[in-house]
Amino acid sequence: MNDLVIREAVSDADYEQWRQVRIAVLPYERCPSLAELRDLDKPGRLMLLAERDHNVVGHGLSDESNESGRAAVVPRVVPEARRQGVGTALLLALADHAVAQGYDRTGCTVDDAGSVVFAEKFGFAEVSRQVEQVRRIGTEPWPAQPTGYQVVSVAERPELWPLAYEQVALPTFPDMDVPSLLNVSAHDWATEWLTDPEAMFVAVADDQPIGVAGLLPDPDKPERAEVAYTGVRREWRGKSVAATLKRTSMAWAADHGITDIYTWTQQGNTAMRALNEHLGFTYGITSIDVRAALPLTKQEIPG
Ligand SMILES: CC(C)(COP(=O)(O)OP(=O)(O)OC[C@H]1O[C@@H](n2cnc3c(N)ncnc32)[C@H](O)[C@@H]1OP(=O)(O)O)[C@@H](O)C(=O)NCCC(=O)NCCS
Repeated sequence: MNDLVIREAVSDADYEQWRQVRIAVLPYERCPSLAELRDLDKPGRLMLLAERDHNVVGHGLSDESNESGRAAVVPRVVPEARRQGVGTALLLALADHAVAQGYDRTGCTVDDAGSVVFAEKFGFAEVSRQVEQVRRIGTEPWPAQPTGYQVVSVAERPELWPLAYEQVALPTFPDMDVPSLLNVSAHDWATEWLTDPEAMFVAVADDQPIGVAGLLPDPDKPERAEVAYTGVRREWRGKSVAATLKRTSMAWAADHGITDIYTWTQQGNTAMRALNEHLGFTYGITSIDVRAALPLTKQEIPG
């Protein structure tokens, strides 16, 4: 494999190539824009490119996970360059970096059976699943302003978003069905979790945020958007706050030419799945969350 080069993505052109691999491997998912990727740069975050004969054939990411206490390592190889050792070279480089950062545990998410076999070879094992829920956008009426609270966009009231981090996000993260508590910083909340203030909605009571929901529009595919984090404070549950916020975002989507929205829900999060089903979402693919101890050990799997 002499001609395979694994190198760090540094320039904007490298980042754009990194994006193109992500789009080729996950065509059904929104990819962060160049500006969004740059916002995520931080010490310890490593982005790699795999090149053969000056063609980019894969990429990788090694970073702190947003799940407390572990690294995230993600090798991806374009379909036409698979089964040639590129994924192995990327994964080993990413895992070495995670070990050098002090991590003893890592994980990633795999969407297809072949990638699961690859991951198992390196000691990864399934811990949980996520289901994709999808919804066609048709004629979506704007809900009437509710009584008892108000719905506003973050564009109208930007000061509510940092407040919503403290008052909605942090108190509701423990209710997600994830293997360990989410570790999302105020900076992540202001960048990765909010990409378009017009498309994000906050429910407000007594001038305090009580719930959030919205969309992450997709500049690469303007006809679709990913559903952003939905959360409602516990004392406000069972009062249609989440449904009203989500219906508001679907009306916004219809007004902005969006025809399809999708979201990933933890398989065991029955409340969120039921809410989405109630709003007309159906099921797409299932994703498998895998975890492994670091340093990685190659397992011998028969066959
Ligand atoms: C997983 C992925 C990175 C593997 O990349 P790759 O370059 O094809 O992997 P390698 O060639 O290094 O494979 C090493 C070994 O893993 C196993 N393997 C890899 N892909 C496999 C597949 N589709 N089916 C069965 N086994 C597979 C094989 O044992 C392979 O060795 P072999 O080809 O000599 O039999 C690639 O399929 C991919 O990009 N998947 C989508 C992204 C993803 O899920 N990434 C997370 C993985 S933890």
